Amino acid sequence: ISNGAVCRAVTSPTYVETTEATELDWDNIGFGLVPTDYMYVMKCSSDGIFTNGELKKFGPIELNPSAGVLNYGQGLFEGLKAYRKEDGSILLFRPEENAKRLIDGASRMCMPAPTVEQFVDAVKMTVLANNRWVPPTGKGSLYVRPLLMGSGAVLGLAPAPEYTFLIFVSPVGNYFKEGLAPINLIVEDEYHRATPGGTGGVKTIGNYASVLKAQKLAKEKGYSDVLYLDAVHNKYLEEVSSCNIFVVKGNVISTPEIKGTILPGITRKSIIDVARSQGFQVEERAVPVEELLDADEVFCTGTAVVVSPVGSITYLSKRVEYGNRGVGVISQQLYSALTSLQMGLAEDHMGWTVQL
Ligand code: COI
Repeated sequence: ISNGAVCRAVTSPTYVETTEATELDWDNIGFGLVPTDYMYVMKCSSDGIFTNGELKKFGPIELNPSAGVLNYGQGLFEGLKAYRKEDGSILLFRPEENAKRLIDGASRMCMPAPTVEQFVDAVKMTVLANNRWVPPTGKGSLYVRPLLMGSGAVLGLAPAPEYTFLIFVSPVGNYFKEGLAPINLIVEDEYHRATPGGTGGVKTIGNYASVLKAQKLAKEKGYSDVLYLDAVHNKYLEEVSSCNIFVVKGNVISTPEIKGTILPGITRKSIIDVARSQGFQVEERAVPVEELLDADEVFCTGTAVVVSPVGSITYLSKRVEYGNRGVGVISQQLYSALTSLQMGLAEDHMGWTVQL
């Protein structure tokens, strides 16, 4: 399917035509919402079964002011990307992983969730319906944002009686304003992102609202983002506001282990596998903040940020620099390996991509 072709929804009898040309400056898309043509909506009531999903024109949705998501934050989101291949077809990257993570998160947040099959079919349908918004190869990707929310009305604190699963999409380029240039982080020693027993390990909307304050203060001081420490010892690395963190020393690449306070990133997991396949030793463990002082390279991973090299980290007023103001060799190597797979430029021996 190429840009502007007539496309067909994969699991529904609905045919969706996207024939208009897309007026977008593909060379200058950042990470902001571009309204697209269609969104996907599926509901379920207290029986917990999602049915009758359909594509609708993208636009505002109606919510009861007493909806669980608005009052008590009963909501989760996901993020994945669709890439345009050179032959014009579209590749999704590991959509089943997002489906499984949503199911895990839903269990933690007392919500029903769509099945893996429902999730993947809905993503395919939404991407195909918005085909004309998938950027040309090498110009970015179509960011897919699934939401699961308690849309039913509650007043007393309780799980909502009705849920809505919704998917919208937006063409995106680089997440950080630095583009592919290294970002500058500050280690946060006052605010924490997550606590043991909390919800840091699932993609609930509240985890992201709670980091806005620290992120705002860091940006005012000129940093790109914040690196959080664990809430118990204030000593071990956790993650950055929107991505996971990796520290490189020689042939060893270390990243904080998944233990309930860190988001199990799909890019994180993919980079661990890619790095191991390239002969690196990857350690998932508690990483003390002091290890930043003598690291060779540091990089972040996430769906939105992909692999983002870190140029400096400031901790207790001390600034450590990496990569000689450029992109570290290993960060670059892993970035290239991952994005070649995602864009269909390299053969997918991992079986991670789904062709539309
Ligand atoms: C993603 O990387 O997809 C995320 O969900 C992070 C978000 C803050 C953009």
